[in-house]
Amino acid sequence: MTRTTKLGMAGLGTVGSAVVNVLQRNASLIDARAGQRIALTHIGARRDNPQCDTSKLHVSRDVFAPADDPDVDVLLELIGGTELAKELVLRGIANGKHIVTANKALIAEHGNEIFAAAREQAVQVCFEAAVAGGIPIIKTLREGLSANRVEWLAGIINGTGNFILTEMESGGRDFNDVLREAQQKGYAEADPTFDVEGIDAAHKLAILASIAFGMPLQFDKTFTEGISALDLQDIAFAKELGYRIKHLGIARNTAQGVELRVHPTLIPDSRLIANVDGVMNAVLIKGDAVGATLHYGAGAGGEATASAVIADVIDVARVIDGETKHHVPALSVVDQALEALQVLPIEEVTTAFYLRLTVLDEPGVLSTISKHFSDAGISIEAVIQKQPAPGENTVPLILLTDLTTQRTLRSALDQVQSLPQTTAPVVSLRVENLGA
Ligand SMILES: NC(=O)c1ccc[n+]([C@@H]2O[C@H](COP(=O)([O-])OP(=O)(O)OC[C@H]3O[C@@H](n4cnc5c(N)ncnc54)[C@H](OP(=O)(O)O)[C@@H]3O)[C@@H](O)[C@H]2O)c1
Repeated sequence: MTRTTKLGMAGLGTVGSAVVNVLQRNASLIDARAGQRIALTHIGARRDNPQCDTSKLHVSRDVFAPADDPDVDVLLELIGGTELAKELVLRGIANGKHIVTANKALIAEHGNEIFAAAREQAVQVCFEAAVAGGIPIIKTLREGLSANRVEWLAGIINGTGNFILTEMESGGRDFNDVLREAQQKGYAEADPTFDVEGIDAAHKLAILASIAFGMPLQFDKTFTEGISALDLQDIAFAKELGYRIKHLGIARNTAQGVELRVHPTLIPDSRLIANVDGVMNAVLIKGDAVGATLHYGAGAGGEATASAVIADVIDVARVIDGETKHHVPALSVVDQALEALQVLPIEEVTTAFYLRLTVLDEPGVLSTISKHFSDAGISIEAVIQKQPAPGENTVPLILLTDLTTQRTLRSALDQVQSLPQTTAPVVSLRVENLGA
């Protein structure tokens, strides 16, 4: 691995500090995936951020310094806002730097001008983190779904708004009450206008639509209605009718023209997207070949956003490099120590288990069986014992175990299976919590 791609970063707030942390924590993995060294060589920030350690990094107090540093290949714009950020990005482009940004307002409002400047200079502009935070939705549209004519897409793309709606519905609380809580929890800004009036969602929708349909960014033509006027009783009536109200960004390519709209929307509660709650985001995309696909995940947060920023950095670095073997992620990883990773035999895998035993309906059976599990070190989390069916002398006995290995379970089950009270093969199914 010979090449080094050098990063300059402007801004060291929530996202900037998380980028520093993830780059440091996953350095060797990121280098392996990029097929070269990725080095953060220059940060421009007015002040330090205690959330990350920059003591060994070159930090300038001028946010423009990385854009002017001749050593920097890729400029990360993480200051937010539109005017200064636009000046910064255009300066970086003029200096021949590739751009990675998390700034939806910048791309939605000035993207056309920025892209034109980037084309002139033959540099890349990447903005995966600008829409739906950690969900790789831009890459999904540009790469995974690139064979499709996108017919429509619909997204819950503002976590603050979704948190407020979820709390209004589940707690029967009014808008202002929940907004105050969202501000206390740090989900909503002191000035929540962008989130609750739908402007933030409209920025993101304009970006998604432009990529999905291949048209210029048209934020100014996006119909935008927020959630601040939403009445609790409408949420309740919608529920009675079998609907949930979600704040959706919808883009639809019709024969008459493109619909671009952000507004509170009733969705049948049986739809997966209707059950996306709290600060989570989701985007549903309908392609003519693939059908509907749903993409769900964290729409904000330092590290979730850093995940998208760094993925863009790796993409840019691979293109700069031009070495095709680095375009195949698995190959570049195999080059590294990760090659030594072993696949765990199933006997050593730890999960909880659902067990259905068929046992004789006689006193003491449960305690006999429980003893075999506890002797093996397996805790039982829950038990269901059923009455025998008329004329039957056996009953199903359902056990939910705590975490254990397949090997441990197998040895306990061998004993339980051989008990005279066990009259049929034990059914075992693995339980996965799939929590974070
Ligand atoms: N936070 C998220 O979860 C998230 C998710 C997706 C996308 N984004 C986007 O990521 C970008 C950064 O967001 P963030 O949450 O990291 O913001 P943040 O915590 O407010 O950090 C902004 C950083 O930029 C600096 N900055 C802002 N204005 C400046 C100016 N005029 N001159 C010099 N420095 C300036 C700030 O410096 P000071 O500390 O000195 O003010 C700070 O270092 C935004 O475009 C945002 O929309 C954020």
